[in-house]
Amino acid sequence: MRRLVVLGSTGSVGRAALDVVRRIRSAGTALEIVGLSAQRTVDVLIEQVREVRPVAVAVGTSEVASALRAAVPEWRGEVLIGPDGLAALPLVTGADMALVAVVGIAGLGPTLAALGAGADVALATKEVLVAGGGLVTDAAVRLGRRLVPVDSEHSAIFQCLAGHAARDVARLWLTASGGPFRHLSEDALAEVSPEQALRHPTWRMGKKVTVDAATLMNKGLEIIEAHWLFGVDEEKIEVVIHPQSLIHSCVEFVDGSILAQLGPHDMRLPIQYALTYPARLPGAAVPLDLRTIGALDFEPPDPVRFPCLAYARAALRQGGTAPAALNAANEVAVQSFLGGRIGFTEIPRLVRMILDHHRPRPAVSLEAVLEADGEARALAEAACNAAPRSAR
Ligand SMILES: NC(=O)c1ccc[n+]([C@@H]2O[C@H](COP(=O)([O-])OP(=O)(O)OC[C@H]3O[C@@H](n4cnc5c(N)ncnc54)[C@H](OP(=O)(O)O)[C@@H]3O)[C@@H](O)[C@H]2O)c1
Repeated sequence: MRRLVVLGSTGSVGRAALDVVRRIRSAGTALEIVGLSAQRTVDVLIEQVREVRPVAVAVGTSEVASALRAAVPEWRGEVLIGPDGLAALPLVTGADMALVAVVGIAGLGPTLAALGAGADVALATKEVLVAGGGLVTDAAVRLGRRLVPVDSEHSAIFQCLAGHAARDVARLWLTASGGPFRHLSEDALAEVSPEQALRHPTWRMGKKVTVDAATLMNKGLEIIEAHWLFGVDEEKIEVVIHPQSLIHSCVEFVDGSILAQLGPHDMRLPIQYALTYPARLPGAAVPLDLRTIGALDFEPPDPVRFPCLAYARAALRQGGTAPAALNAANEVAVQSFLGGRIGFTEIPRLVRMILDHHRPRPAVSLEAVLEADGEARALAEAACNAAPRSAR
């Protein structure tokens, strides 16, 4: 019986993962959920604890812990609190697999802790590899643990690479939907509201990643994620807009052949593959009917209207703590945009400003990465507070 903890179980990926586990368990898969986590969404967590009866849960605050205890008094599991509690969850529960689906840099410490506790990691949280890719991939190799991507693009590449030697890979092609503002002019982009940015054309996801998809920073983060997962240099990772989002990504080989992975817009498919890898089980999602999907379109991304892609590439080339600074600036900028403090086009401006200011150091430890994150975050917060919001 494999013992799974779901970090970020109340989120979009976390809830889809519980769905997957419910279904594959009822089909006889030996997998049990021993740990759950939420930051503050206590009502969803209460339902999940009633259903799953985990060994332990991790929550953001003591108020959430008290509300959970009061709502499920008959459940005697442990409740861990705060970032240290989240990091301790895999060890406390004796997990041998952790699905990391918390949002942002908050996932980095727990990912390293899960590997340290002897668990394999199914990784949804791309910011973990953006900020601490070297630390995480080194730890996985050193500790002999498996790191399997959940992000649909990286799952696609992972599947296309299976059985192929690294020397045979010419390029990785990350596909991007282009987001809701693919056709908007630069002037119009400055006026878009958070509500408009949260209307993704093809995927239903958490707010942070949905805004990242609208700025194309999501694809920038995914370039860095792909670099660490697959050991491919930045200049060999291409991005192409594919509005239908049915090809989840491709691998081009040295002979000119391109392998692509197709599937519906349903995260349950890559989540299930990561949880059951290398096995494939039936029923993850409703398969595509190729007779009905029509045209598949491709176009290059526009670097002028969507400069975040270039900033992510620059951070990866700078190396060290530069991607951590980029990520921190972006996390602050997205929250500030969602909170109405800055406009949409101020997101890339802020990221650029923080990246220009940052002096990268070697990202040799979790502390070094978190220090760079903290500095960039403080500077970005100060800039957001100072900036007059032109379109407020
Ligand atoms: N959604 C997708 O389809 C998708 C696809 C590919 C990759 N991803 C990646 O997967 C990650 C999760 O995305 P999502 O869309 O599932 O996000 P989400 O819906 O916003 O859920 C985030 C989860 O993390 C928890 N959380 C938030 N802040 C936290 C903190 N500071 N410390 C600990 N836990 C915290 C949330 O708890 P509360 O509910 O209590 O706030 C929730 O359980 C992101 O990195 C995203 O880029 C998502």
